[in-house]
Amino acid sequence: MAVPIRDALTFDDVLLVPRRSPIRSRKDVDLSTRLSRSIKLNIPLVSANMDTVTESAMAISMARNGGVGIIHRFMPVERQVEEVLKVKRAESIIIEHPYTISPNSSVHDARRLMQEKGVKGLPVVDGNGKLLGILTTRDLLFEDKDSVSKVSELMTPAKDLLTARVGTSVDNARELLRKRKIEKLPVVDEEGYLRGLITSKDMVTLAERPVACKDSKGQLIVGAAIGIREGYLDRARELVKAGVDVLVVDVAHGHSDWVLEVVRRLKRELSDIDLIAGNVATPEGTKDLIEAGADAVKVGIGSGSICITRIVTGAGVPQLTAVLECAEAAKDHNIPIIADGGIRTSGDITKALAAGASCVMVGSLLAGTEESPGVEVMRNGRKYKLHRGMASVGASMKRGTQEAEDDSALLEYVAEGIEAFVPYRGDSHEIIAQLVGGVRSGMSYCGARTLAELRQNASFVRLTPAALKESYPHNVESIQ
Ligand code: XMP
Repeated sequence: MAVPIRDALTFDDVLLVPRRSPIRSRKDVDLSTRLSRSIKLNIPLVSANMDTVTESAMAISMARNGGVGIIHRFMPVERQVEEVLKVKRAESIIIEHPYTISPNSSVHDARRLMQEKGVKGLPVVDGNGKLLGILTTRDLLFEDKDSVSKVSELMTPAKDLLTARVGTSVDNARELLRKRKIEKLPVVDEEGYLRGLITSKDMVTLAERPVACKDSKGQLIVGAAIGIREGYLDRARELVKAGVDVLVVDVAHGHSDWVLEVVRRLKRELSDIDLIAGNVATPEGTKDLIEAGADAVKVGIGSGSICITRIVTGAGVPQLTAVLECAEAAKDHNIPIIADGGIRTSGDITKALAAGASCVMVGSLLAGTEESPGVEVMRNGRKYKLHRGMASVGASMKRGTQEAEDDSALLEYVAEGIEAFVPYRGDSHEIIAQLVGGVRSGMSYCGARTLAELRQNASFVRLTPAALKESYPHNVESIQ
């Protein structure tokens, strides 16, 4: 045992000391950062790989706002792949594999496919992929639900369609869409086979959101979590095939021989994709994961809002100390640290970044938003969403019913997370804007134009309980 026992701190134990600042406007602050060895973000925010936080809707919002979402792994591989594809298709200059429909399909099938995939138009192709026409929601507008019409009767046929050739430039496509006032531009090869789809919506969002995080094809970036049990490699391969940008090895105690072996294997088999590994809370854990091949390390044991790991196991490290020490260990390797869990305010984010994290992973702060997959409930006239730890009884029961042959394992299950309600918070864009605004302000107090300057300038002071009390509203009755 190490004696004497040292102190460890978390966000509420410290404040950043304000200093002389060259910043005139919060807009002058640059929040760009790295998620992993080769993936850049425009804001230092990552949505957590939890089943009440990140599926495609959240990942789309995160990437549009300059961050990234990590699709959770508690679903069959095919569904996780589908979630990744939804993000990849949400916005791109060209959708490479658009959803298509056959000319013999019914109106009912077309409507269902559009609804299921969240698209408003379907190229119509024959069995070999030759473009025959296009069907949009407008073509279905006056078809009642019992309509027996076929797609071929309602579509705009290929001969009346404006199409683009493979290799069309963004400017050319924009000009075609503008001139003809059309919404969808199928991309075909010389023989008329469908090779992609360009949509006016994507063109508009491209121009509107310069902050969005995109890959080289103009598609939003997205991550996906995997575990370490049987089948993890197949899952990883399928996700890579679907175009995922980064994989996250998601394990509560990432500093284990087993996880290190999995990280080594993944880097051997899928060397082209960045791999985030975690979670750890020590410099030793950070170093071991980096040496095994991790391209970023996720830090946080028991810090999350819905975690009871520290209570149940007695293990963990307060988050600010964990981030400080792990970031120090990762510095020489030039590998980013992701501070995961325990973020309650924008001030916490500034502190985590000042302590050396490249970005923060957020769960409960986003769980109440429109884009989270959590169930909505009304309590005392107010709207809430359900949020739960991935090691909670509820989450493990869901996994149990999906995976287990019998439920005896559930009876022995020791939960390390809880289930909770979080207030409904509306659009995630607004929450992200508040968080980012707070961080920009925090950086301005620290005289930092960039996150590198924030780390350099950071000077923390420790708080007494009285000082902490002073930080919160006091001596007033708050209106709420
Ligand atoms: P916040 O505080 O943002 O934390 O809600 C999200 C992070 O919490 C972790 N997590 C868990 N930790 N038991 C734990 O000890 C759990 O059941 C659990 N579920 C999630 C995870 O790191 C997440 O990103």
